[in-house]
Amino acid sequence: METLDWKNLPFGYVKTDYNIRCYYRNGAWGRLEISSSEYITMHMAATCLHYGQEAFEGLKAFRGKDGRIRIFRWRDNAKRMHDTATGIKLAHVPEELFGEAVFSAVKMNEHFVPPYGTGASLYIRPLLIGSGAEIGVKPAKEYLFMVFVSPVGPYFKEGFRPVDIMISRNFDRAAPLGTGPYKVGGNYAASLSSLEMAHKHGFSTTLYLDPKEKKYVDEAGPANFFGIKNNCYITPSSKSILPSITNMSLQQLSRDMGMSVEQRPVPVEELPSFEEVGACGTAAVITPIRKIVDPEYNIIYDYCKDGNPGPVSASLYQRLIAIQCGDAPDVHNWVDII
Ligand SMILES: Cc1ncc(COP(=O)(O)O)c(C=O)c1O
Repeated sequence: METLDWKNLPFGYVKTDYNIRCYYRNGAWGRLEISSSEYITMHMAATCLHYGQEAFEGLKAFRGKDGRIRIFRWRDNAKRMHDTATGIKLAHVPEELFGEAVFSAVKMNEHFVPPYGTGASLYIRPLLIGSGAEIGVKPAKEYLFMVFVSPVGPYFKEGFRPVDIMISRNFDRAAPLGTGPYKVGGNYAASLSSLEMAHKHGFSTTLYLDPKEKKYVDEAGPANFFGIKNNCYITPSSKSILPSITNMSLQQLSRDMGMSVEQRPVPVEELPSFEEVGACGTAAVITPIRKIVDPEYNIIYDYCKDGNPGPVSASLYQRLIAIQCGDAPDVHNWVDII
């Protein structure tokens, strides 16, 4: 086992021993290769560099009390990468290849999977890039698929503590019929200015509204948004947000808790009516939201006035991490043990 300061790990890059690579050439994927280099060499005219032909994923592995390593819902990440590949014309990575690369990357870096009970986990980052050279705008003929890992702590430094976020009316992360539902780098590049502005004003992240009309809530930076009221879990449906696997899991856990679930457009005017609101994602897990500030309209929506996460968010969080770490039965078949 590595000797890192597991309890104080940030959400950042830590060098591990190996990464896994596979090349697509002449219309077919090659064999998986193991690399100990943190670098890749590629053609200067690779389509990922010029035309944004790149996709990535993010998932996690957890060490249980029994010492075993569990990978959470990797098939859903494989499917989402498949959908992204369709969206921006990348070569598709077959599910078996995706799984084999993810499992190998975790196994080869097993001693970087943080110990049980530290709140840290092993973040897994699959990456798919157009590596073939083109000078006109067209899909590459060659691709590199790789998986690297990094032990991480909570995404928001507050951990499971409520954060304040800011509505962004002057920036969108994606166009109404653009690449919002795909996990492509361009969406994140588009989010950097608003994120920097949010940080400058003391907020953890940005709350995006729908890019067409600015009437509905979209998502919270790199995480989906949910609200709780009247024993109901409510989360936006939108063509410009990433379909979050954590959100899908929380919807199921809400049903398991006897709550109803609504996935539908969430008008901004509905914000004051929520009892609890939160952001959810692989990195954010559940991050309760304390305040949503709308600076242009000079409005503050205030939740959890006592500064503590709401009871429903707390239960959902506990249930989710219990399944991920193997403390609760995996009744929905979300976990694969290495
Ligand atoms: C823009 C965006 N929304 C939502 C999410 C949450 O998705 P997931 O729960 O699958 O990690 C992420 C993180 O992957 C994201 O980058």
